[in-house]
Amino acid sequence: MASKKTARKAQRKRSASRRTPTSGSDAITLLKADHRQVTQWFAEFQKSRGARQKQSLAERICAALRVHTSIEDEIFYPAFLEATKDTQTHHEAEVEHNSAERLIAEIEESGPEDDYYDAKVKVLSEMIKHHVNEEEKRDGMFAEARRSKLDLKELGARLAARKAQLTRESEGSEDDVDVPVPRSGGSSSSGRSERALARAR
Ligand SMILES: [Fe+2]
Ligand SMILES: [Fe+2]
Repeated sequence: MASKKTARKAQRKRSASRRTPTSGSDAITLLKADHRQVTQWFAEFQKSRGARQKQSLAERICAALRVHTSIEDEIFYPAFLEATKDTQTHHEAEVEHNSAERLIAEIEESGPEDDYYDAKVKVLSEMIKHHVNEEEKRDGMFAEARRSKLDLKELGARLAARKAQLTRESEGSEDDVDVPVPRSGGSSSSGRSERALARAR
């Protein structure tokens, strides 16, 4: 029903505004805050019993992950690669994003009435847990980024701006206004990210 959908959208919007990082966050602080938020929602999903609550949480998780992977693919990962030349870490992260995006699409196309719905969300949570660990571990991507010459404050500002834009778009509060992507350096994945968001709309 449209009214339920509208209510869910309004709920997501309230949640999104609560989790909007301060404009002064550096890139890694902002990305880690996203990780914590989604981890919390996965835990809530595991505890929830009602179909409506499960679907609401799953939709919120998928939307947030689409925005998060997009800002990493478009801005953070290219900047990381340019600064560190660490193609192995970069490529593995991109492959993990691709796998997660396929499962996200499956979850979005199904619902709690699907026998496999809970299993799909559980497997997505495990994939994300692994991926977050790869980014945050002692010698992971974020630690390497901190050791590099990256300007993490400047990168954080660009991530925050793009995140705000994509969040607005995924919530349908804009009528497909095409705002230029803030960027510097390569951005090989933006096409894929745009397609992912188009699927989400
Ligand atoms: Fe991440
Ligand atoms: Fe990532």
